[in-house]
Amino acid sequence: MAKLLAFAGSTRKNSYNQAILDVAAEGAREAGAEVTMISLADYAMPIFNEDEEAEFGIPERAQAFKELLISHDGFLIASPEYNSSYPALLKNAIDWASRKAGDEKVLGAYKGKVAGIMAASAGGLGGMRVLVVLRMLLENLGTMVLPTQRAVAKVSTLLDDNGAVSDEKTIKQLKSLGKETAELAAKINAS
Ligand SMILES: Cc1cc2nc3c(=O)[nH]c(=O)nc-3n(C[C@H](O)[C@H](O)[C@H](O)COP(=O)(O)O)c2cc1C
Repeated sequence: MAKLLAFAGSTRKNSYNQAILDVAAEGAREAGAEVTMISLADYAMPIFNEDEEAEFGIPERAQAFKELLISHDGFLIASPEYNSSYPALLKNAIDWASRKAGDEKVLGAYKGKVAGIMAASAGGLGGMRVLVVLRMLLENLGTMVLPTQRAVAKVSTLLDDNGAVSDEKTIKQLKSLGKETAELAAKINAS
């Protein structure tokens, strides 16, 4: 069984990206994966500074986040698009987790892992541009990003009163992304 870690690049209350991530995670669970859902709000970490890292080491919560990445086979990541790119929150967490402590493997949080990526926006592009740079970032770190990805446009029109995704077609697509991620992670884990 694949173990997937799911997190969004937004800690906003009623985050659209959290809403789509919840559906993809459900799809992965239905495909037999064990999914750990976390919020980056619970892993608040300072903006990376190499001098502070040298003096104080990796902050506890950054290390805890990294250890979660290390202990999972793959990731489901939903990210908002900020100015055509990823939010600082997400990049900062990814940067901290790329730093090695003790006898950890170099880039152990990323190498040999798989990721299913998605974005949501009230705009017409659905955050399509953040997926380009997020894919590049993760692949450069050694994570295999699924060719399938989802950019959910005009997301505010696809939710119910509780902020959950209610559009059937979108649910199907997101669940399918979760399932594909779970299946690829399981295959790689088995090989
Ligand atoms: C600094 C900033 C830049 C943004 N740039 C974009 C953008 O380039 N494209 C886009 O579709 N939305 C952009 N947005 C709007 C976000 O898509 C919107 O805030 C969205 O709700 C964030 O996702 P969340 O609901 O998961 O927090 C931007 C928002 C902020 C705060």
